Amino acid sequence: MSQSWSPSSWKSFPVSQQPTYPDSNALSHVLNQISIMPPLVTSWEVDHLHDGIAAAQRGEAWLLQGGDCAETFDQCRTEPIASKLKLLLQMSLAIVFGSRKRILRVGRMAGQYAKPRSSETETQDGVTLPCYRGDLVNRFEFNAEARRANPELLLRGYERSALTLNFVRALSEGGFADLHHPENWNLLFVDEAKGEVAHRYRELVKSLGDAIRFVETILPDRSSDLKRVDFFTSHEALHLDYETALTRPSVRGIGYYNLGTHLPWIGERTRSLNGAHVEYFRGIRNPVAIKIGPTMQNDELIEMTKRLNPDNKPGRLTLIHRMGRAKVEATLPSMIEAIRRENREVLWVCDPMHGNTVSTAHGRKTRRFDDVVDELRLSFAIHRACDSMLGGAHLELTGENVTECIGGSRGLTESDLESAYQTQLDPRLNYEQALEIAFEISNQLSAHRI
Ligand code: PEP
Ligand code: CO
Repeated sequence: MSQSWSPSSWKSFPVSQQPTYPDSNALSHVLNQISIMPPLVTSWEVDHLHDGIAAAQRGEAWLLQGGDCAETFDQCRTEPIASKLKLLLQMSLAIVFGSRKRILRVGRMAGQYAKPRSSETETQDGVTLPCYRGDLVNRFEFNAEARRANPELLLRGYERSALTLNFVRALSEGGFADLHHPENWNLLFVDEAKGEVAHRYRELVKSLGDAIRFVETILPDRSSDLKRVDFFTSHEALHLDYETALTRPSVRGIGYYNLGTHLPWIGERTRSLNGAHVEYFRGIRNPVAIKIGPTMQNDELIEMTKRLNPDNKPGRLTLIHRMGRAKVEATLPSMIEAIRRENREVLWVCDPMHGNTVSTAHGRKTRRFDDVVDELRLSFAIHRACDSMLGGAHLELTGENVTECIGGSRGLTESDLESAYQTQLDPRLNYEQALEIAFEISNQLSAHRI
């Protein structure tokens, strides 16, 4: 590493999107507490994902990353967590069928509690208060007390991450994830009789039964592999004091890991090359991801890959492009060319959500399903045309029956948004829309299988 790094060396770099705490002693007290609590994940798990991402770069695996825009403390409940896991398992089944690749399932879960905002403040009826920065920082209600940055919420966020992870781990390891019983993953509200996507999924489950019986006949020893799944966590590592408190020296004596999550990412708004987030990320041993939008310059991108992955190791760096349907054709090809020209090792992932957010006449934030699908399809095609490979998708989704994005097989319209619009931040794909995307990915990967 060119200059010395420590878990808190970022403090001498310009930092953005951090809350201001009125009581800095209270903040230090909480951070000290978190820094001695057990880690949420282990370095072995983190290394395992690193290897998986390297495999995805070789075309042997595919990364499926998804979850809420922001988790909230009151959604840390059985149903929303189980539904999200079920949906991600159903999606990965659809993708594995088309791709014949191992799927790396990564939730935007168990720590996705801090959000970057476009404005420091929010004004309602002439009253101006600090913006809501996610449940890790303050509360959504619009009053001065709720919007005050409260360090106790860091502890609550750590605890809820642990509760979520505990549940997800138990489900992934035990009978729930067993491929012999995909009926465990059915969502309670899905009407079995109706819906073209649900029907397609049921057909897939039937053929899965045959495939499993076949495998077990010829490879009886492998059947225990089908009883559990790997599941990894990720979040935007935005709140650097919190992330630092969860950054621990490796027990194997090799550097530092962020043990608050497996795959931390840098958001589009905090990816400044000389900023604190890039400084923090360059020193941790986790695989790391960075979101890149249409304003990213090619030379900046190359410099970023050198800063974050100086040894050019496969598996270390994931680039999540989120250009938007309207800009992806003009912006993505030259970025891919630059990476290829410089032989930089990266996994390319498409986030077809964040470049496609629009507001309705009623001021609801939404996304058109067709734009999301188009950006994804175009991204596959652009990578192929540039002799590169799209190795994953990053999606905002929920297993709850919401109406936040327009379109999809049920043809949700703008007026349907009012019926079940629940997000406080970005609009998410619902069950059917998400599964439809998974089938689209599956088709793309099977059409171009080598
Ligand atoms: C997000 O993933 O919720 C987000 C804020 O994305 P981006 O950094 O790509 O804008
Ligand atoms: Co979002």
